[in-house]
Amino acid sequence: MAFLELDNIVKKYAGTDRPSVANLTLGIDKGEFVSLLGPSGCGKTTTLRMIAGLIEATSGRIHLDGKELTRTPVHQRGMGLVFQNYALFPHLDVARNVAFGLEMRRASKAEVRRRVGEALELVRLGHLSGRRIKQLSGGQQQRVALARALVIEPSVLLLDEPLSNLDAKLRDAMREEIRAIQRKLGTTTVFVTHDQDEALAVSDRIVVMSEGVVEQVGTPEQIYERPANRFVASFIGRANLFDAEIKHTANGVAELDVAGLGPMRAVNGHGAKGSATVLVRPHRMQVSEAGDGHGTVETVVYVGDSIEYGVRVGDATVSVQSVAGREGRLERGANVRLSWQAEDALVLT
Ligand SMILES: Nc1ncnc2c1ncn2[C@@H]1O[C@H](COP(=O)(O)OP(=O)(O)OP(=O)(O)O)[C@@H](O)[C@H]1O
Ligand SMILES: [Mg+2]
Repeated sequence: MAFLELDNIVKKYAGTDRPSVANLTLGIDKGEFVSLLGPSGCGKTTTLRMIAGLIEATSGRIHLDGKELTRTPVHQRGMGLVFQNYALFPHLDVARNVAFGLEMRRASKAEVRRRVGEALELVRLGHLSGRRIKQLSGGQQQRVALARALVIEPSVLLLDEPLSNLDAKLRDAMREEIRAIQRKLGTTTVFVTHDQDEALAVSDRIVVMSEGVVEQVGTPEQIYERPANRFVASFIGRANLFDAEIKHTANGVAELDVAGLGPMRAVNGHGAKGSATVLVRPHRMQVSEAGDGHGTVETVVYVGDSIEYGVRVGDATVSVQSVAGREGRLERGANVRLSWQAEDALVLT
């Protein structure tokens, strides 16, 4: 059994006609950093709140370290929580905010002082321990919230979009910081985000959710390179999806007839047959000028490191990302052929 085990969890809120989380089964190992990723309303916060004990599952069981949690109230689960809005106490200073969880647990004054000091050092706020919350920047408040969650040495750290109030640059810096602290402490962490880049950057594993259902669980690489279905393929990263007919498959590689492109090849690990969808990421596509091309270049966008082409094929637009400067740049209106390496294309089921 995994350290944190969710077994067939269902949550149906009163007055709703379908479950917000449906039959979710997931095991998280000790020390693992797992992200729940999916569009708004897919059930991420609901899942996190059930783990925390803030809401009760309609059915299913949660185990932590082999013990059933169903009847364990929030404060006895020993979990650290950080929310989007931080929920700090504005009238208390930084140190008192961080001390709160320890005081609730009746730790001695000396122990509170020592552990608050350590937690503030960890998030690099030792010098601001006497400041009022409203005298802090967004990033500093975020660190106070993190210190407050970590100071109790939580069994599990639960983070619900903790970075969404920060500007893009600070968000990137903070996510690296959270990850570094998490690695150092080895705290089992569940991180909720709807930002795919964020999830790819920080996670050991990602749980992709849609409408209350888990679509795929895997490492960032598995999710990106081998998405389980169309939803995951289009939600994570940019994707060209082609309709194709599978002719035959040998050694896991299919010969295809792709609409608008003709004969192509793609990885077909599950041995799918008949009509299929083929995924090719824009940077894995090649484009070259040809008299008898597949389509015409419609848009050319130069973005420094690369050039992005929109190529019209029939009534679809195919995205191609080329490394700038490798070859001459194609002009709008150019007639082009599209191609890819078999191992860079994936038959989706
Ligand atoms: N208290 C509630 N009562 C009824 N329905 C709810 C309640 N809370 C959430 N829901 C519904 O459950 C579904 C999942 O909500 P949840 O907050 O878990 O989504 P989320 O993935 O966290 O989305 P977001 O990215 O917008 O935060 C949504 O359809 C939402 O409307
Ligand atoms: Mg949410």
